[in-house]
Amino acid sequence: MSTGEYPAGPRGRRLVGNRYDYEQDRIAFLRRCQHDYGDVFAFSPRTSVVADPVLVHEVLVRTNTDFGIEVALFDDAPPEATARQTPTAMAGRRKSRPAVNRAATDAHSHRLVDIFHARLGPVLGREVDVAAVMKSFVIHATTDYCLGGSAEKAAGDETAAVEEVAVAVSEAAERSTALMSSSLSLPSWMPVPAVRSAKAANRRLAELLYQRIRQRRAGPRDTAGDLLDTMLGGDAEPLDDEAVYRTLSVMLRASHGVPGTTLGWAVLVLAREPGIAARIRVEAEVLAQRAHRTITVDDLPYTEAVVKELLRAYLPTWLMGREVRTHTTLGRWTFRPGQQIMMPVYLMHRDPRWWDRPEEFLPDRWLGTQQPHARFAYLPFGAGPRICLGNQLGLLQLVLAVAALVRDYDVTVVDPDTVVMRPEALLVPAGLRGRFVRR
Ligand code: HEM
Repeated sequence: MSTGEYPAGPRGRRLVGNRYDYEQDRIAFLRRCQHDYGDVFAFSPRTSVVADPVLVHEVLVRTNTDFGIEVALFDDAPPEATARQTPTAMAGRRKSRPAVNRAATDAHSHRLVDIFHARLGPVLGREVDVAAVMKSFVIHATTDYCLGGSAEKAAGDETAAVEEVAVAVSEAAERSTALMSSSLSLPSWMPVPAVRSAKAANRRLAELLYQRIRQRRAGPRDTAGDLLDTMLGGDAEPLDDEAVYRTLSVMLRASHGVPGTTLGWAVLVLAREPGIAARIRVEAEVLAQRAHRTITVDDLPYTEAVVKELLRAYLPTWLMGREVRTHTTLGRWTFRPGQQIMMPVYLMHRDPRWWDRPEEFLPDRWLGTQQPHARFAYLPFGAGPRICLGNQLGLLQLVLAVAALVRDYDVTVVDPDTVVMRPEALLVPAGLRGRFVRR
C-alpha cells in the first residue's frame, strides 16, 4: 500500500502545463527537469518520469501486475479491454518461445543476408530515404521468419504471400506511427482521413494474417519451419486463431520501425567514422567464407560491439511508458491506478554517472571483460515479463546487416551535417538520405 508522496516537478504554464516546453525540445526539457528535481519527477498530476536505472528496471519487472503495458497503440479497444489482453499476449509469448531463441534465430542467418541484398538491389545508385530501405529489409526478414519457412514453400506460393504480408505490415505500421507521432492525438473513432486509412491498413493486415493462419491449419505440418508453424504445433497450451493472429501481428509490427531505424543510425555513424567501418570490413569477410551457412553474432564480435553501441547511443525506443494499475509505491514515491510512468531510457544510456564518456561513440567499451555500465543502465530491449520477444532475432538482423552493408556496399550520405536526431515516437535520424553502390 502507498505511504510516500507523488513526485515533485515543474508546475508548467497555465492551461498547457509542461507540454509546450516539452515540445520545444523533448530531451533538453527532460534533462533540465532531471537536473532540477532528480531521477523521478512529475510531468503532470497524471504522468511522472522515472530515469533511475534501478527503478526503471523495477517498473519493467513489475509489469503485468502493478504496471500495465500500453498495448492499445494500434488497436481500437478501450483500455479495460486491452488490459484483459495480457493473458492472450503472455500465452502467445510462451508458445512462440522455441521459435525465437538463439538456436532458432541463428538457423535463419543465411536467409537474412540474402534478403538484405535483395532489398538493396532495386535502389542501387539512387538517392533514397535510408531508414525506409532499412525498414523494408527488416520487415521482409521478419515476415520471412514468421511465415516464410513452411512446407508450402515447396509449392511456390509462399514467397508471394510473404511479400504481400510485408507490404501490408509496412502500410499498417507507417500509418499508425504517423497518427501516434502527430502532436494532436486523434481519437480512433474520429472519422478523419488519417484515422480511416490507418484503420483500413490494419484491417487489410488482419485479413491477410487470418488467411495465412487458416491455410496453414488446413495443410500438413510435419516440421516447424517458421514461427507460425511453432505457434500452431505442439499439444501444450493450444492457441485459437485470434491468439495466433495477435502474436504474429505484434511481432511483425514491433519489428518494423525499431531495427530499421537503428540501421539508419548505423549508416550515418559509419559514414562519419570510417575507422570503425574499416574494422567491420575486415571481420565481415566471414560472410563470404560462410556463404549460405549459419553465421552467428559470435563470428562478428566487433560488429556486435558496434551494434550494442548504436543501441546505447541512438536507441530508437528512447522513451517507454506504463500505466499504473494498482495503488502502489516505487522507491519513496506513491502512485494511483490510471497514472502513467514514462521512462526515458535515452537519458540513462547517456548519463555520466552510469557510463564513462557517454557522449562518445566507443564500440570498444563492449569488448572488455567488465560490463561497461552501472547495473540496469543499459536496457535496449526492456526487461521483465514483456522484454522484447525478438531480441535475439533483432540483434542478429542488425549485426548481419551492418556487416553485409560495410562489406558489399559503398554508401554516400547526402548532407550528413543536416541530419538531426528527432525524438518522436521513435528516436529517428531525420532527413537521412543516401545512395548505395555495390562494391
Ligand atoms: C534490435 C532491434 C530491437 C529493439 C531495440 C527492440 C526493442 C524492444 C523494446 C524496448 C521492447 C519493450 C517495450 C516495452 O517494454 O514497453 C520491445 C518489445 C517487443 N519487441 Fe522488440 N526490439 C527489437 C527488435 C524486434 C524484432 C526483430 C521483433 C520481432 C521479431 C521484436 C518483437 C517485439 C515484441 C513482440 C515486443 C512486445 C513484447 C510484449 O509486449 O510482450 N522486436 N522491443
